[in-house]
Amino acid sequence: MIKLEQILAGCLIFFSACTNKGDMKSKEDQFVEELMAKMTLEEKIGQMNQYTSHWEMTGPAPKNASSQKRLEEIKSGGVGSMLNVVGAKATYEAQKLAVENSRLGIPLIFAYDVIHGYKTMAPIPLAEACAWDPEISKLSSQLAAREASAAGLHWTFAPMMDVGRDARWGRVMEGCGEDPYLASVLSVARVKGFQADDLSQNNTMAACAKHFAAYAFAEAGKEYNTVDIGTYTLHNIALPPFKAVADAGVSTFMNAFNIINGTPATASPYLQREILKGKWNFEGYVISDWGSIEEIVSHGAAEDLKHAAELAVKAGSDMDMESSAYLPYLKELVEEGKVDEALIDDAARRILKLKYRLGLFDDPYKYSNEEREKEIIYSKESREQAREVARHSMVLLKNNDQLLPLSKDIKSIALIGPLADDKNSPLGSWRAQTAKNSAVSLLEGIQNAVGSTSKINFAKGCDLALGDRNFLDELVYAEADVQEMAKAVAAAKKSDVVILALGEDCFQSGEGRSQTDIRLKGVQMDLYNKIRKLNKKIVVVLMNGRPIAIPEIAESADAILETWFAGSEAGNAIADILFGDFNPSGKLTMSFPYATGQCPIYYNHMNTGRPNNTGNVFWSHYTDAPNEALYPFGYGLSYTSFEYGQANVDKQTYKMNEAIQLKVKVKNTGKFTGEEVVQVYIQDPAATYARPVKELKAFQKISFKPGEEKEIEFSLDQSDLGYYSPDGEFLFETGTYHLYVGTNSRDVQKLSVKFID
Ligand code: NOJ
Repeated sequence: MIKLEQILAGCLIFFSACTNKGDMKSKEDQFVEELMAKMTLEEKIGQMNQYTSHWEMTGPAPKNASSQKRLEEIKSGGVGSMLNVVGAKATYEAQKLAVENSRLGIPLIFAYDVIHGYKTMAPIPLAEACAWDPEISKLSSQLAAREASAAGLHWTFAPMMDVGRDARWGRVMEGCGEDPYLASVLSVARVKGFQADDLSQNNTMAACAKHFAAYAFAEAGKEYNTVDIGTYTLHNIALPPFKAVADAGVSTFMNAFNIINGTPATASPYLQREILKGKWNFEGYVISDWGSIEEIVSHGAAEDLKHAAELAVKAGSDMDMESSAYLPYLKELVEEGKVDEALIDDAARRILKLKYRLGLFDDPYKYSNEEREKEIIYSKESREQAREVARHSMVLLKNNDQLLPLSKDIKSIALIGPLADDKNSPLGSWRAQTAKNSAVSLLEGIQNAVGSTSKINFAKGCDLALGDRNFLDELVYAEADVQEMAKAVAAAKKSDVVILALGEDCFQSGEGRSQTDIRLKGVQMDLYNKIRKLNKKIVVVLMNGRPIAIPEIAESADAILETWFAGSEAGNAIADILFGDFNPSGKLTMSFPYATGQCPIYYNHMNTGRPNNTGNVFWSHYTDAPNEALYPFGYGLSYTSFEYGQANVDKQTYKMNEAIQLKVKVKNTGKFTGEEVVQVYIQDPAATYARPVKELKAFQKISFKPGEEKEIEFSLDQSDLGYYSPDGEFLFETGTYHLYVGTNSRDVQKLSVKFID
């Protein structure tokens, strides 16, 4: 059974093992204190400064920053960390600048956005979450860490654990989806994958919990927009995954671009000092997001950059990424008595401790080994692991008359769609150092699977986006091409089955990629409608980084496989599923709406005062779209079928310190071996503060042979049943609790129990 506490327990054993080894801790403390004693105020402030390399930019270009000036600052100890310096050679050289020239030779820490791989791309995080499998999440992060650390990197800006309810926001691709419990379990697994149990090993790296906090609640899903959620949502939805990884020993946190309830997150003492470093006792350090200290001024919360530096450091932001606010102003602020020097000491100490744990004081160059880099990166093992993660990430949304899996002996297949031979989009956004156009395309994957047995009639039908699509620039969508459409129709006509690859361009989701309309872009629906008219069997293969609104396709396609952006091995992994070498077991972690206007849409919503149809218009609904999701959270089919028996609990009434023992029998009633994610939701129908209609609290992913039946057991106690008040106080109350057990958040059976004093 996958319970957060168990995962945390594993981490805690390790972390307390480390800290109990009083030795290790005291050696670290002693080392850092001795070093601190030698450092000037300027040198401590230098540790708090992070610069990007000039050859790769993941935010607006640095202002007034000549490379020469930055070089001199590295040499004089004015820089503690760099981002976007990658590769064993480059990191070696940059490290040399700091170590050989600065007075104390303190090594730099190299950071990079290793979000779903370094060179070998695993599926995007939203996809990987759909595996509902901490082992898969861990594997994906291990793979990323192994390659990135072999390229000289020490620190990844991942995992992102913003709970994303709004598919208009492009960055939902980087997270786990809409549920705080699932995000907690999987983010802890990702942190374990990156950091393992020893940061000084050369195949691990420090992780970073981001973005603290509530960035995903940007109004109307518009990037960098205002966030104005109540503290009730903050404590119950946005913060739990962050608390989980803080408890699990994540090394660092990144704060967020957004303002929250009037205060920029970067300048929020409530978030960073009171909650994170106070209540949660987080011992690592907090980095700002790119330029987010400077942006305090744009938000209208600081007079100028100096004032922003003062607010940020007081609020608990320890390292400045690309605002150039700390280096020029912190010393002055200390001398003017506006900033307590103890805050600088605290920040520098936290940063130096991570460098110590990474082993950089023993050997600053230990990760920068070109031979290792060559041997490890993009290896066969990495590709196999990426394929394994990809197969687990895909979600079968529809499969009428068991059209899938297709037989490998099928005579002819029409492969159509702008994404069918796209070797770039499956790599997704935030693709680190992977080579452009390096993914196995769907066309290649199918060719690999069927060899020469089936004739593949390929015609793309249309393009999706035009020109050089990249991380920085806006996309330009393609217009219809009559000739290409005609070729696609002809290909479909002469084939036994049509596979239609539709979805998003890789740079349609990710940072800076908000949309007001999440239907298929360009002329893809025209293409779909033309092919559908032919009355052929149609399998739609979706590739996308966010939920999309596809009501017509859901209605009329024969089968739909959601493959997300599945990474370097995408085509092979998709073919594994299409031809039955792998039975799909993924489940959605974000609701798919019928229409964009339903966003934000999430299963764990509140009931409202008028949840039910009153027979007239006066109830909580839309007049032009359904209320519910097209495909709900937790939904996903298999090639086999599962039957749930009657769930039961050990008692009807419990004392407050007792745990509910819940059991349910599940049977594989189909012909294939398959995995099912058995899901348990709760509802507290009458609480001091109104609670959501359902909340995921436990799940288990279990494999069943055909005909096999297993009894699955869950245990739920007050830590699962309680919640946070708007003040952040954990409450567990007497009264009735409903339990819902099932295959997704919609199709469940209900039980009720009582808790008494
Ligand atoms: C801005 C993004 O918000 C953050 O997630 C990323 O880590 C930094 N840029 C660095 O690239």
